[in-house]
Amino acid sequence: MCKISDTANIVLIGFMGAGKSSVGSELAHITGKRLVDLDELIVRRQVRTIAEIFAEEGETAFRDYETAALESLTGADLVVATGGGIVGRPENWTLMRRMGTVVYLRADWLTLRTRITGCTKRPLATADRSEEEIVALFERRLPLYEQADLVFDTDGKTIFETAGEIWREIKDRCRV
Ligand code: S3P
Repeated sequence: MCKISDTANIVLIGFMGAGKSSVGSELAHITGKRLVDLDELIVRRQVRTIAEIFAEEGETAFRDYETAALESLTGADLVVATGGGIVGRPENWTLMRRMGTVVYLRADWLTLRTRITGCTKRPLATADRSEEEIVALFERRLPLYEQADLVFDTDGKTIFETAGEIWREIKDRCRV
């Protein structure tokens, strides 16, 4: 079934390294929608990096900024690339579903691992965290990501292929 809001905004969710920002950028390009990267919005508003927010105020404060940033998005024709932890708060789901179609970029752990290893920007996946800890976080979140309206497997696909598949599926469902 296609809700009237389905084509208005596309909200991308998925674990760190799933390609939300890069697929989002291509999706914005092919749909003519505007990309909003929620992490970048938080960084711009806070004038601090995400690592600094975590270090200075902790994760709960970051989550509050994240929900506030999501809530502040109004209007249509957006592709929203969220942060991997957006799925943790029920109120974020209410906001995301109200905006449009929630799309999960699914990737297996080995794909994600190669993308997040060595990245220092993500406080929940830095070198001082063991791989077991990160995998445990990934596994805890899997059932949450699966609650998306649409799920796309991205392993072995280019960002262009994934973005194209997503837009074709949404257009088919909504016959636009
Ligand atoms: C987080 C993911 C990050 C960022 C923050 C927390 C998470 O975004 O929001 O570091 O909890 O998974 P990306 O998924 O874009 O890396």
